[in-house]
Amino acid sequence: MRLSKSDSMKKTFGIIGAGNIGQTVARHLLNAGHAVILANNSGGDSLKKITQSLGAGATAGTVQQAAQADIVLLSLPWSQVPTLKQVTDWEGKTVIDATNHFISYAPDFKVEDLGSKASSEVVASLLPGAKIVKAFNTIFYKTLAEDPRVMGGNRVLFVSGNDPISKNEVIDVIASLGFAPIDLGSLSEGSKLQQAKGALATLNLVKY
Ligand SMILES: NC(=O)c1ccc[n+]([C@@H]2O[C@H](COP(=O)([O-])OP(=O)(O)OC[C@H]3O[C@@H](n4cnc5c(N)ncnc54)[C@H](OP(=O)(O)O)[C@@H]3O)[C@@H](O)[C@H]2O)c1
Repeated sequence: MRLSKSDSMKKTFGIIGAGNIGQTVARHLLNAGHAVILANNSGGDSLKKITQSLGAGATAGTVQQAAQADIVLLSLPWSQVPTLKQVTDWEGKTVIDATNHFISYAPDFKVEDLGSKASSEVVASLLPGAKIVKAFNTIFYKTLAEDPRVMGGNRVLFVSGNDPISKNEVIDVIASLGFAPIDLGSLSEGSKLQQAKGALATLNLVKY
């Protein structure tokens, strides 16, 4: 049996971190017909409840299983990213980095001092060989959860990455969810604009 073009474009996403952002992105991906494997820290019943609430196409997995999906989304706390170093061979894997480098939350929202490095460059150094694409990190999850088709336009999501093939793959996925992807360029330049405290962080824009 031959797959139609749209079927052949369906992918499995491994979502590492099944909280606010992980579940929100999972819902968009499921609505577009993709499959998701979610992993969290607690596993077991907590994950079962989450996948049941997400419905068909969502399965629970270990961090290792999620890391082996077609495309991986990092949606776990910044402090936990180093735990992913050894979980799989990251070589060539497209990894969407939705994390923000906060070391404290409300009211002070402090970020880690990374010197001249972008936070996604630090992620890249922790996952050797992975093709890191920064996306889904700028918008509060409740806003991100809403329909991206807004008043005749599309909600903007910024995208940065060094590998053009992986970045275009993510751009295509984001567009297929109904968002307007905006390519900001490389991790060293673009992702600094979209990361926490960057000039484009927290902006909620609509492209007409
Ligand atoms: N909240 C937002 O609006 C928002 C927006 C943009 C970006 N972000 C960024 O997205 C990331 C997640 O934020 P969130 O608000 O979704 O957090 P959250 O609701 O607290 O969810 C965090 C998830 O990560 C899991 N986790 C923790 N340590 C882990 C580990 N070592 N391995 C695998 N999974 C682990 C947690 O599992 P357990 O529940 O089992 O502990 C939980 O499922 C953060 O980096 C944040 O800065 C958040």
